[in-house]
Amino acid sequence: MTFSRRDFLSTAVLGSLSLGLKGQDTKPQDSTMRRTMNVGSSKRPIIVCAANGFKYLDDAYAFLKNGGDTLDAALRVVKGPEDDPNDDSVGLGGLPNEEGVVELDACCMHGPTRRAGAVGGVRNIKNVSLVAKAVMEHTAHVMLVGDGAERFAVAIGFPRENLLTEHSRKRWLLWKETHSYNDWWGPGLASPDWKPPADAPSAPHSELWENMIKRMEQVAADIGIQPEYRRAAIRDVLFPPKGTIHCSAVNEKGEISGCTTTSGLAWKLPGRVGDSPIIGAGCYTDRDVGSAGATGSGEENIKVAGAHTIIENMRKGMSPQEAGTDALRRMVRNYNNDRDKLRFLDMVYYILRKDGAYAGVSLWESYPDEEQHKIAVHDGSKRLEKTVALFKGASINWPPIPKLKSDSK
Ligand code: GLY
Repeated sequence: MTFSRRDFLSTAVLGSLSLGLKGQDTKPQDSTMRRTMNVGSSKRPIIVCAANGFKYLDDAYAFLKNGGDTLDAALRVVKGPEDDPNDDSVGLGGLPNEEGVVELDACCMHGPTRRAGAVGGVRNIKNVSLVAKAVMEHTAHVMLVGDGAERFAVAIGFPRENLLTEHSRKRWLLWKETHSYNDWWGPGLASPDWKPPADAPSAPHSELWENMIKRMEQVAADIGIQPEYRRAAIRDVLFPPKGTIHCSAVNEKGEISGCTTTSGLAWKLPGRVGDSPIIGAGCYTDRDVGSAGATGSGEENIKVAGAHTIIENMRKGMSPQEAGTDALRRMVRNYNNDRDKLRFLDMVYYILRKDGAYAGVSLWESYPDEEQHKIAVHDGSKRLEKTVALFKGASINWPPIPKLKSDSK
């Protein structure tokens, strides 16, 4: 597939911007919510997870159906993307921090025994969800971070390995070279390839974008990113992903558990920990109520203690969808409903009540230039369902994008 700059501009950037800046309808979609409300079939057993767990659901469901533990079933799902070098949001092959080092976060909660485990900022260990479980089972602590968590994992028997794949290293290099005008990365003044920064302040906005993307294409080619991957690589640089996987599982008896694992926000500062390993934010399970987890803007989710808020909402009688929507509204409240800011964040909640009712809710319908957010479900039949979005349209994600000339027409 040949990557065309015009294709990229017209889909990823212009498409997102025209959605974002032309005053589209961003009213909460209450009527849509009622129509598409996926409160689930209340069948048990049932597993729900983020869409990147879809292909691992069959094995986990069979395990659960045959009497396997609910946390082990959820861990079977999230271990799939952790092991997959082509999933650059989790485990092996996760996109690295700004120094090019992969740092992983994970947590888990075992409903039947009311126990929890978590790890943050772990390097060189692929299956951090299992390390979180080991913290739960083999220590008197709930959370270990950084070097201590890595040494604990090695002591338990997890192998150390290089988590940075060539795919992720090249994307990081593209980010580093094209976002580093003020440091020593990229060709220096003496190089015949040196050009003034594409984002010179005097450049008109659309030219700014065209120049920037043209330069990124050239750098991507120089780095050796194959043409068919360049569009996605440039997208990752412009809109740093924060992909993650959450999974919750309930068995026939109503026992319930959950776990979340991630490589976190791409190009983050070393040591940055998002919501995924925070019990109550990235995941929360209460055996009396249900289990919930999140993918998306970690910093925002921490501030509303999203997963815990959802469980407490359901305890008070809200449906899974109402409980998740309330947590999203708290995020909206934190920005005084300012859509110009809210457009730069996104959040998806995966919610499972202990009776088997479930919901997938999101702040926006999708990330830029992507399909609508989905929740993966297995209750005997495996499927992907669209989340119920609070706002119509796509989020933009950081960094803020300057207005294009074409938008003001
Ligand atoms: N939700 C993943 C993160 O922000 O790290």
